[in-house]
Parts: sequence; C-alpha cells; structure tokens
Amino acid sequence: MMKTLPQFKIIDLNYLDEDLHHQAAHLLLLGFAHDWPNAWPTLETALDEVKETLGEEKICRLAVTESGEVIGWIGGFPQYDGQTWELHPIVVHPEYQGVGIGTALVLDFEDQVRKRGATTIFLGTDDESEMTSLGGIDLYPDVLEHLSSLKSRRSHPFEFYQKLGYSVVGVIPDANGPGKPDIIIAKRVES
Ligand SMILES: CC(C)(COP(=O)(O)OP(=O)(O)OC[C@H]1O[C@@H](n2cnc3c(N)ncnc32)[C@H](O)[C@@H]1OP(=O)(O)O)[C@@H](O)C(=O)NCCC(=O)NCCS
Repeated sequence: MMKTLPQFKIIDLNYLDEDLHHQAAHLLLLGFAHDWPNAWPTLETALDEVKETLGEEKICRLAVTESGEVIGWIGGFPQYDGQTWELHPIVVHPEYQGVGIGTALVLDFEDQVRKRGATTIFLGTDDESEMTSLGGIDLYPDVLEHLSSLKSRRSHPFEFYQKLGYSVVGVIPDANGPGKPDIIIAKRVES
C-alpha cells in the first residue's frame, strides 16, 4: 500500500507534557530497535534521553499529527561555543518513514540553528551491524581511504543526510567496539 504524508505540525517539546515525553521515548525504542538495539534498550533509557534533550539552550522538536500522535522527533545541542550544533537524535515512526517527515524535521532544525546564529551542524551516525562498507573491518591505518569509498549495504541513514546536502566528513573507527564505527556528517548552515 502506498504510504501518504499525514497532516502534522512541528512543535517544541517542553518539560511539562509527560504524555509527549512517553510517546517520544517509545518512538526512540521503535525506530532504533532493528539496527541499533543497544542504543536505547529500555523505555527507561529512552525516557532519560528525552529528558537530556530538554533545556532552554537545546533544541527538541516533535512532529505531531492532528490527533496528537508523535510521529517524529529531532533534538540537538550547542557545541564549540554555540557556533556548531550537534544533531541528536532524529527518529521517524517506522509506519511513516519515507514520506518526507525526516526531511521536514531536518529543515526545521536547520531553521532553528540559523535563528541562533550558528554556522555548522554535525552528527555521528553509527554503523553497528555492517550496514556500510566501513562496518565489520579494521579501518586502520588507511582510515581516509576506506572513508573515501564509503558505500551503503543496507539503507544506512548517511544517504538520507547526503540527500539533504550533508557531507561525510569523518569516521571514528571502532567507536562502538571493534568494526563498529561512527560516521561523522556535517553541513554549513547559511544565514
Ligand atoms: C533516517 C530517518 C530519520 C529518515 O526519515 P524519513 O522520514 O524516513 O526520511 P524522508 O522520507 O524525509 O526521506 C528523504 C530521502 O532520504 C531517503 N532515505 C531516508 N532514509 C534513508 C535511509 N536509511 N537510507 C537511504 N536513504 C534514505 C528517502 O528515500 C528519501 O529519498 P528521495 O528524496 O530520493 O525520495 C528515518 O528513516 C528513521 O527514523 N530511521 C530510524 C532511526 C535512524 O536511522 N535515525 C538516524 C540515526 S543517525
């Protein structure tokens, strides 16, 4: 069946709305369970992540349908004295993936970062299950050679970011254990 884009709006998540906190935490569990099962193994760890993303100096935005269902979440926090923002996390409900919600969340995040006068967004996207050509091998000593021939084997999200104008700028070998690197992505945000 063809998926369609539901009506939704993007709102700030605040400290008070516990129902939205729980929905965002469930989304995190659901969205990462398949390819990153260790990222947030329990609802409790996912709720801790929601709480960490809240705060005046941070960005925490939800995509919410007209009926109040949370179908996407994006967060981020300032780094390098606020010149650069780290995007973390982003997740779209599996039933609604592939219809543009992730794109809408990233564009909204870029607007939020621009408003704060920053110049750069970066993020790390892990490969813990050989989803790319960088997974499952020893990247040393020619790390940059491996990086320059990066390929996706199984829908790794680095391609999602590339479609939105982001560049692969680095990799941390074995970041999550041997053969499980973190791929670093960045984009300049024009004011
Ligand atoms: C990655 C994610 C946020 C993308 O959100 P989405 O709503 O599915 O993305 P969109 O529908 O806006 O997709 C925009 C484009 O990126 C592509 N894309 C999306 N996810 C992709 C992936 N994992 N691999 C390759 N391409 C992808 C889409 O096919 C689409 O391409 P098109 O413009 O040629 O049609 C979402 O799939 C998700 O939550 N995944 C699980 C959690 C995750 O991977 N988070 C990111 C960790 S760094």
